[in-house]
Amino acid sequence: MKISVPATSANLGPGFDSVGLAVSKYLTIDVLGVAPDWQVEHDLGADIPSNEDNLLVQVALKVCPNLLPQRIKMTSDIPLARGLGSSSSVIVAGIELANQLGQLGLSDEDKLTLATEIEGHPDNVAPAIFGNLVVASYHQGQVNHLVADFPTAALLAFVPNYQLKTSDSRQVLPQSMSHAQAVAASSIANVAVAALLAGDLEKAGQAMEADQFHESYRQPLVKEFAQIKELAKRHGAYATYLSGAGPTVMVLVPQGREQALKLALDQLALAGETFLLTVDGEGVRVYD
Ligand code: HSE
Repeated sequence: MKISVPATSANLGPGFDSVGLAVSKYLTIDVLGVAPDWQVEHDLGADIPSNEDNLLVQVALKVCPNLLPQRIKMTSDIPLARGLGSSSSVIVAGIELANQLGQLGLSDEDKLTLATEIEGHPDNVAPAIFGNLVVASYHQGQVNHLVADFPTAALLAFVPNYQLKTSDSRQVLPQSMSHAQAVAASSIANVAVAALLAGDLEKAGQAMEADQFHESYRQPLVKEFAQIKELAKRHGAYATYLSGAGPTVMVLVPQGREQALKLALDQLALAGETFLLTVDGEGVRVYD
């Protein structure tokens, strides 16, 4: 059995902790068979445990504590700690692993609730489960979500060659906002989401770049951001935003302009790599 989970790009500007998009990089789990102990073979670095301490196994055992230990191969082209949902993809894979091995018959809604409880917010785990664009809330233990197609656009991700931990990137955010600030910030978020659902990327892009919840506090942590945004504007981009907690910089650009923008970005020779991504329309999948 094989489980595959897409990468995700959260927030999309003002959809902080509640909006995310599934994109075309993948975590793949191969279940190779029962073993005396949990074994997770991977080449993701020495910091990632290869035994029962691996997040994948921890999540699977949390969901179904009596699973038999397995030998598992884990491969991923989702960059770690770069704002592309690498840990959320592992959480979703762990839930699916428990679902399959334990024959739990979980619905997608069950998976979303479990994943959100583990992750703390639904913006990465929801698109990792459903694919596409997902708008979700998590309030008083209840997850509410809506899956929608993403408007036609090209996606470019600049992935810096340094990591930024979500916890560090959350630390620069204010502890509180006034009521008036919250009303203004959520009105911008409302327009961003409405425009995405209406397929109006010009309007969505303006609202995404007007975010009041996190972008202005975090952009200084990503030194390449301003330069990329300026270049992207010159290439007609709809929006440039921090993917999740960063440091990946995501650009939404009209289809047909992405190759020229990628070339121009590559010519800046920034310390990192630029990828052209597409929207993943499926989310987590299982192969026999
Ligand atoms: N919404 C989260 C954040 C995504 O921006 O901190 C990363 O977990």
